[in-house]
Amino acid sequence: MKVFIIGVSGAVGGLLARNLTGRGDDVSGLVRHDEQRANLSARGVDARVGELADMTADSLASMLNGIDAVVYTAGSNGGAKEVTSAIDGEGVVKALEATRRAGVNRFVLVSVLPEAGRGQDLDGDAEFYFAVKKLIDVTVSESDLDWLILRPSMLVDRTGIGAIALGPAQPHDEISREDVAATLAELLHEPRIRRQILELNQGPTPIAKAIQANVH
Ligand SMILES: NC(=O)c1ccc[n+]([C@@H]2O[C@H](COP(=O)([O-])OP(=O)(O)OC[C@H]3O[C@@H](n4cnc5c(N)ncnc54)[C@H](OP(=O)(O)O)[C@@H]3O)[C@@H](O)[C@H]2O)c1
Repeated sequence: MKVFIIGVSGAVGGLLARNLTGRGDDVSGLVRHDEQRANLSARGVDARVGELADMTADSLASMLNGIDAVVYTAGSNGGAKEVTSAIDGEGVVKALEATRRAGVNRFVLVSVLPEAGRGQDLDGDAEFYFAVKKLIDVTVSESDLDWLILRPSMLVDRTGIGAIALGPAQPHDEISREDVAATLAELLHEPRIRRQILELNQGPTPIAKAIQANVH
């Protein structure tokens, strides 16, 4: 399988790339700096350099020839409103359009649990972030592609346990980035899971089994 990761320089994107290349998949992706491209190249990832905010859907589409699935895991993580609008909002719209124009069918978005910040007295930028994330989920879910939205709860950096809780609704808890990446890789290899929003936590069920439970 050929997978293009937007956000491949990020933590989840990098772990996903490692997981997929380990399975023998071809991984490419978009990075902002040549140094990132070189580092990824040494790990067998064919990254292309481009500034998402400045690219057109056509220029992004030209990087997607022969790709089977696009994964979008770039994001501001709640930074300044302009970056959130550009990367968590318009960037996703652009990537969705590029995916369609390139004739790629599968589009996987890493989103966030909409209630993640509830009761935490968030500042304006964070409130804006969660609103943009929710609205972009609406846009992706209305697309005619084979879309999939994965909403992990709070991401933590610890070794994955290989077990999750996955379904249309999960409480906000936490999950290791390694387990998010492993879940994404497994989902990419399960084409019957399409046009769903799945929420993800750490949990008791082995990843492959949790995914099969969501095949309808
Ligand atoms: N933090 C959480 O608890 C949480 C919870 C649920 C979901 N999420 C979602 O999970 C996603 C992945 O998380 P992560 O830990 O992998 O995040 P990360 O390590 O911060 O990676 C973010 C990625 O987005 C890219 N990016 C950021 N700003 C950009 C810009 N202005 N233009 C182009 N690319 C830009 C980064 O590129 P550079 O390397 O060039 O900066 C990087 O590839 C997040 O984007 C968020 O949507 C996060």
